[in-house]
Parts: sequence; structure tokens; C-alpha cells
Amino acid sequence: MRRVVCNGLRLGLRDVTEADVPALHAVYGDAAATQHMPFAPRSPREVADLVGQAMEAARAEPRLLYVLAVVDAEHRDVIGVARLRIEPEHPHSAEIGFGLHPHQWGRGIGTDLVRLLLSFGFKQLGLHRIWGARSPSNLPAQLAMLTAGMVEEGRIRHHLRTPAGWRDSVVHSVLEDEWTER
Ligand SMILES: CC(C)(COP(=O)(O)OP(=O)(O)OC[C@H]1O[C@@H](n2cnc3c(N)ncnc32)[C@H](O)[C@@H]1OP(=O)(O)O)[C@@H](O)C(=O)NCCC(=O)NCCS
Repeated sequence: MRRVVCNGLRLGLRDVTEADVPALHAVYGDAAATQHMPFAPRSPREVADLVGQAMEAARAEPRLLYVLAVVDAEHRDVIGVARLRIEPEHPHSAEIGFGLHPHQWGRGIGTDLVRLLLSFGFKQLGLHRIWGARSPSNLPAQLAMLTAGMVEEGRIRHHLRTPAGWRDSVVHSVLEDEWTER
């Protein structure tokens, strides 16, 4: 298994471990951080299960799922979580997802995180297309993806079923040549 090492100026990405469960629960268990996600805040047990599944997926060949701890570049604290899933039927293409602990919001870190994920996907994984689906009302995610170069592609109606009912998604994407030009 090839371990992920990806470092930017302010952030780094690495594979999750069991030790990251409390830090990941600070995101996946938080009501504000999961407001636009299709599930209710997760319990510590559920997050531990997710981490276990992520570690198992990291050993798969070919590897299709990357669940990564987002670390502060200076102190190496875990401040968020990122996910990149390669589509099995279209392995040139991957979907990303990301979330930061609410204490980190509003300082440009989310935009940096999207940029770092794109760099990881295009440079290290050799992908051709990377996309993300957000809630129509998720303005910070919209702006972070747009600023990082992910254009809006369109709307998927009733894409997800959430505890509140059906939810549309707005899809953003960027292609490798567009990213290289930037
Ligand atoms: C989405 C998320 C990662 C953004 O992180 P962040 O560090 O706050 O993002 P940034 O500081 O880079 O801000 C991105 C843009 O949103 C704007 N923004 C941030 N918070 C905002 C808010 N509450 N209201 C309006 N605009 C906001 C910023 O001004 C910035 O816009 P700009 O590029 O025009 O300056 C963060 O909000 C988060 O973790 N949310 C919960 C999980 C989630 O929704 N993930 C996305 C799934 S698709």
C-alpha cells in the first residue's frame, strides 16, 4: 500500500489512523459541520467504523478511496477531513468531499484544502477530471470550489436523501488541462 503524503504551505494530507477518530468526530459529529451533509451528526462509534473502513479501503488494489486527515502544516494537528473517491467504472474521474472543524472556518483554509486535493488528484493520482457535489445552499463550499477553479456544471435533482428529505446537489468540476493552465 502506498501511503499518502501531500503537503501544501498551510495544510497537509495523510491517511487516517485510529488515533484520528476524536479529531474526525469533531467534524463528522458536529451539527454545524454536517449541516450540508446527507447524514445526521455521527457518534464516536460511527466515526471509528468509518475510519476502520477507510483503512481497509487504503489497502485495496487498485485503491479507489482516499479518506485523508487534513493537518495543519506547522503543528500537524488534525483540523479536518477530506475524501477522494475514484469512480470504478470511470477511473479517470474522482469525486471529492471535504470538511473542516468549525474553529477553522473563514480564513481561506477551505479554499486551500480544495486546491491541495486537486493537486493530489491530478499530480499524484494522474486523474483527468475531479468533481464535487454540494448542497445548493452551501455558499462557503461553492465559493471555495469556484475560487480553486472548479466550475459549476449543473444541478442533480434529488441527488441525495437526507434526514430532512430529498436534496438536490450542484456539481462542480475541473479538468486536468484547465487545472494545469491555472
Ligand atoms: C466548506 C468549508 C470547508 C469552507 O471552509 P472555509 O475555511 O470556511 O473556507 P474559506 O475561508 O476558504 O472561504 C471560502 C469562501 O467562502 C466565503 N465564506 C466562508 N464562510 C462563509 C459564510 N459563513 N458565509 C458566506 N461566505 C462565507 C469566504 O469569504 C470565501 O469566499 P471568497 O473566496 O470570495 O473570499 C467549511 O465551511 C466546512 O468545513 N463546512 C462544513 C462541511 C462542508 O459543508 N463541506 C463541503 C461539502 S461539498
